[in-house]
Amino acid sequence: MFFLLLVLPGLVYGRADFYRVSWRDDPATAAVICWNQVSGEEPEVCYGTVDHGMKAIAYENRARPTRTLEYRGMNNHFVRLENLQPDTAYYFVVCDSEGVGRRLWFKTAPDKPQPFTFISGGDSRTNPQPRREGNKLVAKLRPLFVLFGGDYSGSGTAEQWREWFADWQLTISEDGRIYPIIATHGNHENADLLMMEHLFDTPHPDQYYSLGIGGDMMRIWVLNSELEYKAPTKVPLQNEWIHADLPKYPAVNWKLVAYHRPMRAHTAHKAEGLNRIKWWAQLFYDQGVDAVIESDTHMVKQSYPVRPSEGEGSYESFIRDDEKGFMFIGEGSWGAPARPANDDKPWTMASDSFHQFKWIQVYPDEMLVRTVKFDHIDSVEPLTEANLFDEPKGMVFWEPESGQVLRLPFDKNHPSYTKPPEPRMVVAHGSEWEWSLDGTNWAKGIAPLGYGDKKVNPVALPDGVKPPWIAFRKEVEVGDAGAVTRLFFDLKVDDGGVVNLNGHEVVRHNLPDGELKPETLALKKMVGWRLKRGIPFPVDPKFLKSGTNLVEVRVYQQSPKSSDLMFDMAVRVKE
Ligand SMILES: [Fe+2]
Repeated sequence: MFFLLLVLPGLVYGRADFYRVSWRDDPATAAVICWNQVSGEEPEVCYGTVDHGMKAIAYENRARPTRTLEYRGMNNHFVRLENLQPDTAYYFVVCDSEGVGRRLWFKTAPDKPQPFTFISGGDSRTNPQPRREGNKLVAKLRPLFVLFGGDYSGSGTAEQWREWFADWQLTISEDGRIYPIIATHGNHENADLLMMEHLFDTPHPDQYYSLGIGGDMMRIWVLNSELEYKAPTKVPLQNEWIHADLPKYPAVNWKLVAYHRPMRAHTAHKAEGLNRIKWWAQLFYDQGVDAVIESDTHMVKQSYPVRPSEGEGSYESFIRDDEKGFMFIGEGSWGAPARPANDDKPWTMASDSFHQFKWIQVYPDEMLVRTVKFDHIDSVEPLTEANLFDEPKGMVFWEPESGQVLRLPFDKNHPSYTKPPEPRMVVAHGSEWEWSLDGTNWAKGIAPLGYGDKKVNPVALPDGVKPPWIAFRKEVEVGDAGAVTRLFFDLKVDDGGVVNLNGHEVVRHNLPDGELKPETLALKKMVGWRLKRGIPFPVDPKFLKSGTNLVEVRVYQQSPKSSDLMFDMAVRVKE
């Protein structure tokens, strides 16, 4: 009976579903075929370099599962294929006692330098629609592989994973090509640190590993940002490993590191990754890492090349270094709720907020990064095996001020790079502001204004009483508001501040959520160094008016006992 089923393809389908291919060993010679076995006995993978469609018996090779695992409501099966030929199409079917599954195929990586493309993205949780749109775009782009940055689903339950894998089938192209995934662990997988290993057969139980693609052309180091939070005793081992493994590959041309939570998130309320900076940033720089791919924040960013620095001109631990620095790329928005791009740094090249992933073309001497918007996906013309490096017709790319293509190595003189315009200073630090202790009676003074610090111009305090808050306001002239593409408020404040533009709250810094009352206190004491340059808050320019604009700021103390309060702010626009 079994034999009959094999020779009569198409009569009865096998009972495998939720296919995925992953990489755990040399991608030029190995791959893992993974699926969920619904029913049927004795499943095996029939595979080879010749396409026999669903005629299972005709395939050159067959392999039984290396490993099976009941996990997250699925009967996960893994076949580790080894001794494959590099840069070669492998066709396969999963067959079992009930029939033969869909014919799929994948490509092994090249073992020497030659161009390829890949997709990098993350954070597909919560919203199935954009997730599915992104998946359909994978099928149209035909990358060599997908580097996935974590936060697949809400919390990694059985139901959520079944839905995720059902959606992942949309990444399979019409001709059955399926794209290997390099899996990264995110905080929404923290219910089980083994989740990636249990679902993708990743090579290390703690989810850090490295893989080379194209010989010395590229190597990707995957780190687990969640060990810090979920298994701190394992942190030294991971750090020991990355400090030993990165220097093992001095000849690699493109060095990429990927992990979930960013060092410096580009959304304001997200926590800073101070430990990741401390553990890894200098190592990445010393070892010539080209790009650091981060997720978690659900917005879009790309940075100039940077190196770690706390010196003059640095900001939040980094300073621009066009010659030798690494670029940050991120921050994951494959379906997760979009968050605002409101925490740019001076070394941020561009930021925005929409659903997207990166489509990356890799050549021996340059790497071209495009951000793909999940817009009008049905009108995107799919690529074919003959034109894998063309821009698909109808695909919507992000066009930031620096240009559509982010080119590595970074060359600010390259004709494809558009120098983002320098913001124009509309209000400089040290300008005249009105201030008030009751919101009614106003006086004028030159910023920095406040009390209790010899660097500020003191406001007059009745009877020496130090008020818990002070209001400041200024009329700001902007010629043509419609021409303003970006607006920045560079806030220097001790301790917390809220900024209103024409009656709309646009910045809330170091203050609790909810209604602000006279007795409201700032959340944290301000640290001196952040005050030096001011914190550049990008603000949506939609609240700007042509002509006169009213900017109102209210500054709050962190504690009633605090002896000082200070305020200054610059306003810059890009047009
Ligand atoms: Fe996350």
